[in-house]
Amino acid sequence: PRSIWLSRHGESEYNLEGKIGGDANLSSRGFQYAKMLPELLRRSGLPKDAPLTVWTSTLKRTNQTAEGIVEEFGWEKLQWKALDELDSGTCDGMTYAEIADQYPEDFKARDDDKYNYRYRGGESYRDVVIRLEPIIMELERSENVLIITHQAIVRCIFAYFMQVDQAKSPWMEVPLHTLMKLTPRAYGVEVEKFKANI
Ligand code: F6P
Repeated sequence: PRSIWLSRHGESEYNLEGKIGGDANLSSRGFQYAKMLPELLRRSGLPKDAPLTVWTSTLKRTNQTAEGIVEEFGWEKLQWKALDELDSGTCDGMTYAEIADQYPEDFKARDDDKYNYRYRGGESYRDVVIRLEPIIMELERSENVLIITHQAIVRCIFAYFMQVDQAKSPWMEVPLHTLMKLTPRAYGVEVEKFKANI
């Protein structure tokens, strides 16, 4: 690829309530981020020579985040189920405090080995890395791509391109409302970050 732009969706109603998973709408701040994304992209330097394609998950919050960009630039948008957030199974829709309270052993097990811990009826980071393989392959043979996805997925894709040990990725900081641009260079991958002022 020429460059990969990577972002979490804008803040969702669930983010506000501290709930994980789900398929919530963006919050008003989240919608503000969506509105500001075209400007952030311009600031990051738009590709002049090759097209850009927007990839989202199938969930509402990533599609709502992409809407403004698609409208503004008319870029092609593709939805991938493989870009959906890590499936938290029976814990979907709960807060971390509720999980610690209702499933204390699971909560501890996840803290002890976050990469391998698989939610009951859901996924582990290890599972996510495997389901992302087709995405990575498609990315490797694509030109410019903007990926709007979720926290766990951003971590795994970032770790892949930065050649960081995947087992470390579950702990990586991925702030909301920050666009990352990864550009392969002769000496390694250049990382630029553009933070929305909201
Ligand atoms: O809280 C937002 C969120 O995207 C959840 O939907 C998801 O379960 C979580 O982050 C993943 O982060 P962590 O693996 O640190 O719990």
